Amino acid sequence: MNEITPVTNAAAAVAPKTPTLPDAQTVTEVKHWTDRLFSFRMTRPASMRFRSGEFVMIGLMGDVNPKTGKQKPLLRAYSIASPSWDEELEFYSIKVQDGPLTSKLQHIKVGDEVILRPKPVGTLVHDALIPGKRLWFFATGTGFAPFASLLREPQTYEDYDEIVITHTCREAGELTYGRELIESLKDDELLNEVIGEGFWKKIKYYPTTTREESAKMGRITDLMKSGEAFKDLGVEPLNPDTDRAMICGNLAFNLELKDMFEEYGLEEGANSKPAHYVVEKAFLD
Ligand SMILES: Cc1cc2nc3c(=O)[nH]c(=O)nc-3n(C[C@H](O)[C@H](O)[C@H](O)COP(=O)(O)OP(=O)(O)OC[C@H]3O[C@@H](n4cnc5c(N)ncnc54)[C@H](O)[C@@H]3O)c2cc1C
Ligand SMILES: NC(=O)c1ccc[n+]([C@@H]2O[C@H](COP(=O)([O-])OP(=O)(O)OC[C@H]3O[C@@H](n4cnc5c(N)ncnc54)[C@H](OP(=O)(O)O)[C@@H]3O)[C@@H](O)[C@H]2O)c1
Repeated sequence: MNEITPVTNAAAAVAPKTPTLPDAQTVTEVKHWTDRLFSFRMTRPASMRFRSGEFVMIGLMGDVNPKTGKQKPLLRAYSIASPSWDEELEFYSIKVQDGPLTSKLQHIKVGDEVILRPKPVGTLVHDALIPGKRLWFFATGTGFAPFASLLREPQTYEDYDEIVITHTCREAGELTYGRELIESLKDDELLNEVIGEGFWKKIKYYPTTTREESAKMGRITDLMKSGEAFKDLGVEPLNPDTDRAMICGNLAFNLELKDMFEEYGLEEGANSKPAHYVVEKAFLD
């Protein structure tokens, strides 16, 4: 079902072309998950350091300005979906049909160039949380991307006894990238060796859909308010003594969860002032 851009020549995939654009990196893999979602991997500058969960600006050259005859880079914020130790960079992207960037980006192929401004920033980082026992990741849509990074970050399992990842999407197919990534952790020899055999047993995965039938229907916020999510997961509601959380979704989702967290007694943290939870928008508006 998932269309994977064929790599007919394995050597070509590992021997990137010399970049010609400013700050350009070379695409090494593209996977299309639905007609609205795709992921891709590209080369990583040797000097680039980042913390799992951060985002960068990436993009393509824009159209030629008819007045000046010049082209400018068209850049957008993107969470890095790969962990900090990965030799390559992975991204998980929406396809907005009339979106200035993604109307073009969705057509990239192995060997193409993507512009990367290697200045990672963001609040969804371990440094912005104080120590706790259980870590919650709350995502809608492509808001899963920073958690794709943090779920492959050894520190996540070193710092916490339990990790709960909730992902709410409209349709079941939009959960596939996240579900396959989580399933793949079980057989990840490197992570099992580095973190410890069976580290993935700490994960509780709670995917829900709102507009298409699936095993669990409903917005995570409503499922928490009714108590159903906590019953299903076999955990108590969030508590400042034990629980830490990261939120990445649309603005209304982020605000609704923030209100709920204040009621639970959790305080928002930042890089400069670590606390109980942190929030980042999955997209503007
Ligand atoms: C901190 C941050 C991190 C981000 N990380 C990612 C990421 O990892 N993956 C990703 O796909 N996008 C991410 N985005 C959104 C991204 O920056 C662009 O908006 C997106 O790539 C679309 O670009 P565009 O130029 O095609 O359309 P834009 O003009 O940027 O957006 C057009 C419209 O499409 C909708 N839209 C934009 N992005 C999304 C989205 N991700 N999901 C659903 N609807 C959307 C919005 O309604 C928006 O008004 C992030 C945004 C921020 C602020
Ligand atoms: N996903 C699609 O199939 C689709 C198709 C065409 C166009 N679009 C457009 O693309 C844009 C983004 O769509 P998207 O589906 O990626 O993202 P989205 O609208 O942010 O929805 C993602 C998920 O978050 C849920 N959600 C929204 N607000 C919430 C809140 N306050 N609390 C809890 N959960 C909340 C949604 O539930 P609800 O369903 O209950 O809102 C949905 O399951 C929208 O403008 C949309 O019109 C989407």
